[in-house]
Amino acid sequence: MNAIRVRINQTSLELIEGDITRQDTDAIVNAANSSLLGGGGVDGAIHRAAGPQLLEETRTLGGCQTGDAKITGGYNLKARYVIHAVGPVYVPDDPHIPEMLASAYRRSLEIAHQTGIRTIAFPAISTGAYGYPLPEAADIALTTVCNVMAENSHFEQVRFVLFDESILQIFNSALQQIVQSRSHRT
Ligand code: APR
Repeated sequence: MNAIRVRINQTSLELIEGDITRQDTDAIVNAANSSLLGGGGVDGAIHRAAGPQLLEETRTLGGCQTGDAKITGGYNLKARYVIHAVGPVYVPDDPHIPEMLASAYRRSLEIAHQTGIRTIAFPAISTGAYGYPLPEAADIALTTVCNVMAENSHFEQVRFVLFDESILQIFNSALQQIVQSRSHRT
């Protein structure tokens, strides 16, 4: 499936299948843990691609709370910055968990805005090792990002980089529902 692209306000929102470490956006977002000292999945891939200087910098940050994010340089990555976002470990029926996931996306965009970042790429935070069911995570991620984009036109492009076709399909379905519900509202 090719990239799926919608425009909200002045921003292009794009869904692609790919590898977050290869994106040439101003910033890429890491699906980090609260230690910020690396891990597997996205975290491992970003640290491998960025090189050891990334860990040297994250070591100085004193960790990061769940639902929050912190920014570093990108080093050997194409992206100039890495925003390390800490999503929640999925716990069924805990009302705080969806808000923590939304907060990880919102804080990443706030930090990007403060840093003058105009193009940013997200992975599907918390949907791997942290076990967040993809349909719910996709809806939270896209609803949060679309709300920020509707409120301000700072960003040129927000991209979701999904690791395989099936995840792209789930995000696409969620985005179609969000766009349709908004068009009914306006
Ligand atoms: N590019 C894009 N997406 C990727 C990549 C990649 N290179 N590698 C994995 N993914 C996808 C996974 O398929 C999943 O959909 O990113 C999503 C998030 O998976 P994880 O990387 O496992 O992140 P998360 O679920 O947030 O768990 C975070 O895992 O790696 C550790 O240190 C990390 O403890 C933290 C935890």
